[in-house]
Amino acid sequence: RGPAPRLTVIGTGYLGATHAICMAVLGFDVLGVDVDPDKIERLGSGEVPFFEPGLPELLAKALDTGRLRFTTSFEDAGEFGDIHFVCVGTPQQQGSYAADLTYVDGAVTELARHLRRRALVVGKSTVPVGTAARLTELVQRTAPAGTDVELAWNPEFLREGYAVDDTLRPDRLVFGTQSPWAEEQLRAAFAPVIEQGTPVVVTDLPTAELVKVAANSFLATKISYINAMAEVCEATGADVTGLAQALSYDDRIGGRFLRPGLGFGGGCLPKDIRAFSHRAEELGVGQAVSFLREVDAINQRRRARTVDLVRELAGGDLAGVRVTALGAAFKPNSDDIRDAPALDVARTLHRAGAVVTVVDPAATGNARRAYPELTYGTDVLGAAAGADVVVLLTEWTEFREIDPQAMGAVVAGRRIVDGRHALDPVRWRAAGWEYRALGRP
Ligand code: UDX
Repeated sequence: RGPAPRLTVIGTGYLGATHAICMAVLGFDVLGVDVDPDKIERLGSGEVPFFEPGLPELLAKALDTGRLRFTTSFEDAGEFGDIHFVCVGTPQQQGSYAADLTYVDGAVTELARHLRRRALVVGKSTVPVGTAARLTELVQRTAPAGTDVELAWNPEFLREGYAVDDTLRPDRLVFGTQSPWAEEQLRAAFAPVIEQGTPVVVTDLPTAELVKVAANSFLATKISYINAMAEVCEATGADVTGLAQALSYDDRIGGRFLRPGLGFGGGCLPKDIRAFSHRAEELGVGQAVSFLREVDAINQRRRARTVDLVRELAGGDLAGVRVTALGAAFKPNSDDIRDAPALDVARTLHRAGAVVTVVDPAATGNARRAYPELTYGTDVLGAAAGADVVVLLTEWTEFREIDPQAMGAVVAGRRIVDGRHALDPVRWRAAGWEYRALGRP
């Protein structure tokens, strides 16, 4: 190995903070950069501004080594880095399916202006295919004359809740490059990961951009596929959990991302499939991915169906019905409420006149700020006291382990909708509960 490159990570949200911390732990000198002084201040003093198991311990360790610093200054970044990773968000645009590239463009422009020596700018954000080519041109136009700068793409596949492990031990690395030099730089930056035997796919820019959206579209499609089967099950009295189990033993299908229920949410899958549809239409190949519209529609119908089940259990009318919603986060082990199916259902119930109390082990703070109209409980049994219907929306272990007898003693009526197939219907029915779940008789 040659001398280790110095790394900057621009954007210290989920992806960027995790990447910066992990790279420092792997032995690199890393500078984390963000326009938000509050975030930079918190990270610099050892506080991770979001919920991610294992990351606070790793941040402490990285800060201790002295290899990790944080700044709001792009001037520092330009001076410091050999390789600059761009990790800013690409949310869905207001009122459109398209991705909002304001942050990416802003970060790349600001960085390019401050480059003072040979550098590789590496995009990690999820972007519409073609963005890297446009940014290549932007970087070259904006960097001071005579600065040798190149652009590469290195998509990131980390899952919230497993971010550290996914970063330190990824399934694969994808390098979209425009020259052997760029590939060399990326191989140097990921040397400790590559040495573990991680497969590396070296390809061009558009392929590297597409890998990410293609992967997320496949995963979303797999979830909606099993949820579509749940709809068919509902019409026939079949049981989607048995169906999914039987399918999962076929190696070609596999059981991962085949869990039926309320469907997918979060900051990635929903907006990624929409942005992909939008981009494909712009490119004149919308038909090739028109099924993604259906994937999205199936996913939305699961939310509506869950509300229907609660209404049915409540006797047909939600007005004044006391509902306890178990879960707010888009998935367990996360405090992320972006496009959370749980909160979507809770808000729809609230709008239909139900009195909804939400309880979640990690996400009530975020949920309360976003949706102050809902009521929030602090513990499960307290939140369930006097409830007419309980609905499980996020499959936290704490909810899986609820004792149906203990909860039965505090509710007004023993009625439960299991939106995530997290509970054992035999046990709950034996305890006198009316139990309903999506795709099950
Ligand atoms: C996802 C991708 O997995 C990751 O590779 C990418 O980098 C970012 O997007 P994440 O959003 O953290 O990661 O969550 P993930 O674990 O993929 O779950 C997404 C949603 O799908 C959750 O709402 C989850 O509840 C739901 N899901 C997942 C199901 O409904 N059924 C399943 O079988 C799996």
